[in-house]
Amino acid sequence: MKATAQAPANIAFIKYWGKADEELRLPLNSSISMNLSEAYTVTTVDFSREYQTDSIVLLDGVFSDKEKERTIRSLNRIRQKIENNMYARVVTKNTFPKGTGAAASASGFAALTVAAFASAGKKLSQKEITIFARMGSGSACRSIPDGFVLWEKGKTSEESYAHSLYSHEYWDVRDALVIVDTNMKKVSTTEGMESISTSPFLDARLAALPGRIDRCTEALARKNFSILGEVIEEDCLDMHHVMQTQVPPLIYWSDGTKTIMDAVIGWRKEGLAVYFTIDAGPNVHLIYEGQNERAVLEKIKTLYGVQRIIVNKAAAGAHLVDTHLF
Ligand code: PMV
Repeated sequence: MKATAQAPANIAFIKYWGKADEELRLPLNSSISMNLSEAYTVTTVDFSREYQTDSIVLLDGVFSDKEKERTIRSLNRIRQKIENNMYARVVTKNTFPKGTGAAASASGFAALTVAAFASAGKKLSQKEITIFARMGSGSACRSIPDGFVLWEKGKTSEESYAHSLYSHEYWDVRDALVIVDTNMKKVSTTEGMESISTSPFLDARLAALPGRIDRCTEALARKNFSILGEVIEEDCLDMHHVMQTQVPPLIYWSDGTKTIMDAVIGWRKEGLAVYFTIDAGPNVHLIYEGQNERAVLEKIKTLYGVQRIIVNKAAAGAHLVDTHLF
């Protein structure tokens, strides 16, 4: 039976960087994110006896062999759970460029997991679905629940799941994803995280994270935007500090990234409440409240090197849709 799911990308306010267990993708720390309304993946899965092999197609793009293998590993875990050995046809599309730190793996594995279980007619709890999505790509578990989401690091696979802190309607926080570069990133997050322990700053980051998680949850609870923005920026810079001091160093920023970071700090000095955060790529997410959108967009337009801006509100989590891709 064909089933199609739509899943949002998410932007981490408190970042996940580093695993305690490679195979299960258990993280070294808990993380917090917001789902993005305009950056999402739609995936149709069809498990059927008619297929002799798995086929995986990305519309408007190409999957590498490695990415296909990783998708098949996810399908295998799902097949084991549903106790079925049917092959699947998977067709998927993104609304945003893949491999640029815009978290296509999060929305991709979230949509795949939801569509695959639905195609097999298997109903799981949301918690269980986040656990399966996590094994595909860690951050994918945060794209399943609604709105503002906490991924509990946990010590075991069952304990490492994501849940919603607040719905997407709770607070009008926005994210303008500013694309300065659409080339594929050089080092994947999976590969990058493998050498995390070579950074002399990892321990300091891990020691600071529980306090940051608390500050972030409290800022969300109180809708205190300046505290939220400060902790988001602090954690972004801290994660990149660890990345940049790993051996070999991982420097995801380009000149365009740096230009935007400097500009945001300048705009804040002028009184505009906007903060930046950056994942494993050169593109920059600007975080602000809805009431400041016009002012933020006016400012971004004055910058050199901006290729595209994707303006996001907080969004619902992964869900089934009626229109199939094949
Ligand atoms: O789950 P992955 O492999 O896409 O890793 C995500 C890592 C960051 O985007 C850099 C941080 C995060 O928490 O989203």
